[in-house]
Order: sequence, then structure tokens, then C-alpha cells
Amino acid sequence: MKKLILDVDTGTDDAVAVMLAALHDDLELVGVTTVNGNAEVHYCTENTLRVLDVIGRSEIPVFEGLAKPFARPDFPTPRRKDDLTDKIHGKYLDLPPATSRKQETGAVEYLIETYRATTDPITLVPVAPLTNIAAALTLYPKLVDLVPELVIMGGGHLHGNVTPSAEFNIWADPEAADVVFKAGFEKITLVPLDATHKALVTRDDCAALRALGTPAGDATATVVEHRIGVHDKIQRMEIAHSAPVHDALCVAYLVEPNVITTQAHPVAIETQGALTVGRTVIDVRRRGTDTRLVDVAFDADARAFVDLMLNTFGKQRG
Ligand code: BDR
Ligand code: CA
Repeated sequence: MKKLILDVDTGTDDAVAVMLAALHDDLELVGVTTVNGNAEVHYCTENTLRVLDVIGRSEIPVFEGLAKPFARPDFPTPRRKDDLTDKIHGKYLDLPPATSRKQETGAVEYLIETYRATTDPITLVPVAPLTNIAAALTLYPKLVDLVPELVIMGGGHLHGNVTPSAEFNIWADPEAADVVFKAGFEKITLVPLDATHKALVTRDDCAALRALGTPAGDATATVVEHRIGVHDKIQRMEIAHSAPVHDALCVAYLVEPNVITTQAHPVAIETQGALTVGRTVIDVRRRGTDTRLVDVAFDADARAFVDLMLNTFGKQRG
């Protein structure tokens, strides 16, 4: 069993990541930490609890994290007028209100204490702005040596989704991302938009997920159909009536590494550029001096991704 901690801002695609991590036989989801991102952090916490309740995994602890970016008083500006974030996630997920409760301990304290105490490797999977991780590193720099692998959803090489240059998770807290990428982690796998936009989930896939007749299949179909509806209206994908489910691809990678195709390159974060703040600068041609490499996913296998969800969510009977 591979142990992991998910750091989320749930969110429609985070919800699928949580379900995959909580239900796959080869994964042990040790805990979930939440952070300000797709919505204010208290919504993200409630949504995470809703997801775990609905799939019968309420015993997995949820720790609420930071409510503001690491260094900035708020998100960078300007933001696109037709910003997707609100529309694609909303405030509350369309699931019954949570009956379980968040833990008393905060996310940053939990991350530090868990990594200090563990004797087993625990992969850290942030699929949200990197605020909690940067704060934990700042309070406890040795954390960098205790995390065997970081798998991050964020960034984009060929395009952004919040601005022409930047993807939401990095753009929302560029200083935090900068701290994380400079910290010196042993192994970072970055899953940017270049890969997640190759792993598109279609309306037909949603029908197959719903037909499983399980709580996870049903909940996934509901949140992904919502994503498809919004993408169809304001950001059409290459395949008709489909949407990326970014965060879940990171979890899929943990059990099926071939679901993405990576290349190792140096990665730096732009924190200042008026047009480029939040950009992941991926040095594919080695023009810079940084020699630390990040495994960057440029491609993904949509069929394998959807089959993994069907197999995992099909096992759970409602
Ligand atoms: C990322 O931003 C968030 O809106 C999603 O949950 C995902 O983590 C995609 O850019
Ligand atoms: Ca997310």
C-alpha cells in the first residue's frame, strides 16, 4: 500500500482525486489537508468532508489549512473577467451536507507532525495553491528531507488557464510555489495543464461512471458533468463535451505511472512579471543555470485514466 497525503481546495476535480485516493486498493490516504483556493478554505473543508462522507470513508481525517496566500494579502491581479474558477467549482459541491467534522489540528501543524513521526514513506500530493506546503517548509525546513516524493498539480508550458501564462494553483500563490520549487525536494513530479488537457473525460464516460451504481461513480459523474457544462460554454476542449479532471490525474499516476508521460527539466516560478506572474518556467532547452530537475508531465493516456476510475469506483457498492 502506498501512503499519501492530499492537499486540496475541493473543488470539483479535487473531489475526484479524494475519491480515487480513498478508494483505490493500493493506496492508503493517511489524511487530507485543505487550503484557500477554488473557494474560501472553509468551503473547501466542508466539500472534502462531504466527499468522504458520501463514499463511506469519513474516518479519513481532514485538517483545515491556511485562508490566505503565503506572502500576498490576496490572489494576484488582474484576474480574467470570464474566470472559470467560480463557475466550475461554485462554493458548495452538489452533495449532502457533511455530518463528519474537521480535526482540531491545523493543516500545517499536521503536515509537520506527521512527517516527523512517520517511519513509512508518505507521498505528498498538493493539488491546490502551495500555501500550506510553503508554510510548513518555512516553520520546519527539515520537512524537505522527510517527503520522499511530491506530486503537484499545477502550471502549464504551452498555455495557462487563469492568464495566458499561468495556471490557477501556481498563479493563486506564486511565492508559495517559489518556496516549494526551490526547497530541494528529492523528487518532484509536476502534472501541468499540458498533461491534464490530454486526459479529458467525456459525457459518455460520465454515463459509464453513473451506470456503475456506486456512490463514487455517481458523485464523479455529477461533478464532471458540471465541469463539462461549464467548459462547453466558456472554454471548449479539443474533444466535444469533455473536461479535464486535473487533480485526479495526480492520484492516477501514483498507481499507474504510465498514465502520464514525463520529461525531466528545471522548473522555476515567476513571481513578478506583470503579464507572467504565476508562470511555471519550464526550461526545456536548458537556457538557465538551474540543474535541479523536475519530472514534468506533457502527455496523458485518457483511456487508462478513465478505466482506472471505472475499475476503482465500480468496486464500491452503494
Ligand atoms: C487547478 O486549479 C483548480 O481550480 C483545480 O482544482 C485544479 O487543481 C487547475 O488549474
Ligand atoms: Ca484543486
